[in-house]
Amino acid sequence: MSPSLPDGVERRSFDGRERLATRGEPVYGEPQDDDGWRPWDAGRSKLGAMLELGLDLGLDGGERVLYLGAAAGTTVSHVADFAGPTYAVEFAPRPARDLLDVAASRENLFPLLKDARKPETYAHVVESGLDCIVQDVATRGQGTVALRNNRFLAPDGRLLAAIKARSEDVLSDPADVFPDVLADLRTEYEILDTQRLDRYHDDHLAVVATPK
Ligand SMILES: C[S@@+](CC[C@H](N)C(=O)[O-])C[C@H]1O[C@@H](n2cnc3c(N)ncnc32)[C@H](O)[C@@H]1O
Repeated sequence: MSPSLPDGVERRSFDGRERLATRGEPVYGEPQDDDGWRPWDAGRSKLGAMLELGLDLGLDGGERVLYLGAAAGTTVSHVADFAGPTYAVEFAPRPARDLLDVAASRENLFPLLKDARKPETYAHVVESGLDCIVQDVATRGQGTVALRNNRFLAPDGRLLAAIKARSEDVLSDPADVFPDVLADLRTEYEILDTQRLDRYHDDHLAVVATPK
């Protein structure tokens, strides 16, 4: 049996199709039903894909979240719809501008124009003892990013990472790339689950982990 969805995430019908949904202002052209719910497109969101594939992410709703690689806010907007305080780190100014608009209707969403490889630059803003880090940074050294940000997680917190093989090594077979990233993570994390996301996102591995 699939784990239950977090509070604030439901399956609802849009145009006769059951879709994952959260309740909040639309962000990327998605429809909104009469009750204020909007579909969460797993094809545009690795975290959405993890939920669609039934991974046990350990999310109940209301978590305090650090989101690394927020881009224009597609996924982090859904996270802020069901989570508590949500710190969204993005280092590219252009998408970060759109992220500010997304945050305008969500008072629990805090955008940070910062480099996720340098957590010391936002440690004065982001609380520690967080329940969850969601990581989706398309950069080389994704294992290092997760290790450097481990400092913010509670001992029983969760790292939910989407590892993009092509960002580590554009030429190698993804199956050869993921073990190296997992080996890096194992220095400080216990890996609870992994799953390829190829049904929705080519060459990505979902990793669910907790601090050792
Ligand atoms: C695949 S996109 C993220 C998509 C987003 N998570 C979503 O689902 O809506 C990856 C993002 O990571 C950002 N990124 C890459 N390296 C970063 C770093 N070191 N610090 C912060 N953001 C970074 C990129 O600018 C890009 O916007």
